[in-house]
Amino acid sequence: MKPFESLHKETLKELHTEQNKPLFEKILALVQPRADDIAMYFYRELLNHEKAIRFLNHDLVKNRLRITLAKWLCDSLRYQSTPDDLNKSYQYQREIGQIHARIDLPMSLVDYGMGLIKLQVALVLKESNLERDELADAIILCGQVFD
Ligand code: HEM
Repeated sequence: MKPFESLHKETLKELHTEQNKPLFEKILALVQPRADDIAMYFYRELLNHEKAIRFLNHDLVKNRLRITLAKWLCDSLRYQSTPDDLNKSYQYQREIGQIHARIDLPMSLVDYGMGLIKLQVALVLKESNLERDELADAIILCGQVFD
């Protein structure tokens, strides 16, 4: 998800097509069981990052952020079939953007975080038994979702 203010509704609409539905569903089925591991990895990396650490503390991560990040990851990969669902998804991403804007989180850190997520999702897909072409399509689609 373009983090997050520059995300366009149109981009979401272009990705959530009927044609992409089966691929979204396969990706979510693979990533969902690993979402908690990915969220743990994400915050472990950030807690070790000298510029990120000042926005975080262990209790916040342990009690809240880890859980909400795993949920965000799954929500971002869930196929949205109706304009209403797409709109809710868009509003949710914007709210998260506003939360980060309120704490003055630099864009460079958001980009860094998104890179961590993209890499972990790609690794989960790589370990799956998706066929070559489907694997390529899945990695491309996730690249667009988390652009
Ligand atoms: C790049 C992808 C990122 C995603 C998808 C993401 C996701 C989220 C979500 C879903 C929330 C809402 C949590 C809640 O309300 O319980 C949140 C809040 C928060 N995020 Fe992020 N985040 C990202 C990057 C970062 C980075 C890089 C940092 C710090 C270095 C960070 C620090 C925080 C903090 C401190 C809050 C809580 C703010 C508050 O409630 O006052 N996030 N994030």
